[in-house]
Amino acid sequence: MIVEKEYTEGRITFVSADVDYYTENKKQPTADMPVFMNPRMRLNRDFSVLFLSAYLEEDAIELICEPLAGCGVRTLRYLIECEGTFDAVMFDANPNAIETINKNIQHLELSDRARAKQGDAKVLLLTESRAKRFDYVDVDPFGTPAPYLNASIQSMSPKGGLLALTATDMAALYGVYPRVSLRKYGGLSIRTPFSHELAVRLVIGHTFTVAGANDYSIAPLAVLSTDHYVRIWLRVKADRNEANRQVDDMGLVMYCPECMHAEVIPLRTRQEYSKIEHQKDGCSGKIGTAGPLWIGNLYDPSILSAAERIAPEMEDVFDKRVIRLMKIMIDESALDTHPFIDIHALCDLHGLVPPKLTEIISTIRESGHLAERTHFKPTAIRTNAKVGQVTEIVTNLAGAK
Ligand SMILES: C[S@@+](CC[C@H](N)C(=O)[O-])C[C@H]1O[C@@H](n2cnc3c(N)ncnc32)[C@H](O)[C@@H]1O
Ligand SMILES: [Zn+2]
Repeated sequence: MIVEKEYTEGRITFVSADVDYYTENKKQPTADMPVFMNPRMRLNRDFSVLFLSAYLEEDAIELICEPLAGCGVRTLRYLIECEGTFDAVMFDANPNAIETINKNIQHLELSDRARAKQGDAKVLLLTESRAKRFDYVDVDPFGTPAPYLNASIQSMSPKGGLLALTATDMAALYGVYPRVSLRKYGGLSIRTPFSHELAVRLVIGHTFTVAGANDYSIAPLAVLSTDHYVRIWLRVKADRNEANRQVDDMGLVMYCPECMHAEVIPLRTRQEYSKIEHQKDGCSGKIGTAGPLWIGNLYDPSILSAAERIAPEMEDVFDKRVIRLMKIMIDESALDTHPFIDIHALCDLHGLVPPKLTEIISTIRESGHLAERTHFKPTAIRTNAKVGQVTEIVTNLAGAK
């Protein structure tokens, strides 16, 4: 018999295995719980409700699929909190999860819109989508979404749909295990102060490749990064011509840890790799290479502005970080192809006391460049100024204290 607990999240109440009971109050759920549910993923689910609502303002959705559903909280929130008359299917390999989902469907009186099926996600994505393809697939696995990508894309409507991916295998993506990253995501990771961004770009890059193999194109709509996971929302569509054009959005990121210069190099470039810019300043630090990965945009401004319009209506049930982070996403979207610069890492490197971020941003702007915060890190900025110029500005401001 499973010890269950009633939880409230967003606008729903649901049951799942009692996290406190099964973790002995450590509050960090593990994969061996009878039914998996992580209350700390609420921010991820809040943003998912928000971006689905924003997507629904532009595109219709008839059928959504969550192939790794756990107790079903995520999809049940979509059904209750997002406007629209779409239906939903949820899969899970764990029979206890299916039993719990069914209980939650009954309790929320959603039997006419939702169903659950037990089995392997990769198989069910393909078989259950034959009668009607999915318009939204939400892949929220333990660790990497990579094994589910091919079946997810093949299960989606060729007319276009929303694909959301969570990755929690951060050691591979942040550069601790670059070989694992290459194996799972087709690109090398490296350790840099902006590895969170490289993680997102590696996952998108791999999604581009798998989508492309199926004649689908991708368009990132939004990304979310926290300490423990990255989350990506993309539009995918059967369009091989667009996918061919998007080859220009694949590239390498080269990074020098001694001057913090990052260079984004399209794979189809004619530039000589040996001429990366830091050498002009007399630095001869050893260059690390990440990728191939996605070097294109991370955000779609129209989804962000729809989300900005909708968010206040949900503010009462959302984690209070949602609105703040979303505003920063809007700011950084103008500069999202410039890898962020972590000012604290820069100050550590040069032995400086970090000046205020707002002062740095306004001084960079006074110098004629663009500069914004980034939601990836509270200590970082995005700018089209070179790292050498940023270093000079930061040094002057630190000295002026
Ligand atoms: C991280 S949990 C899902 C959490 C859920 N999406 C949420 O937001 O609460 C991953 C789930 O995948 C299920 N799972 C693992 N491997 C699977 C597979 N091959 N096919 C289907 N389900 C699987 C696990 O039983 C678990 O419930
Ligand atoms: Zn250098």
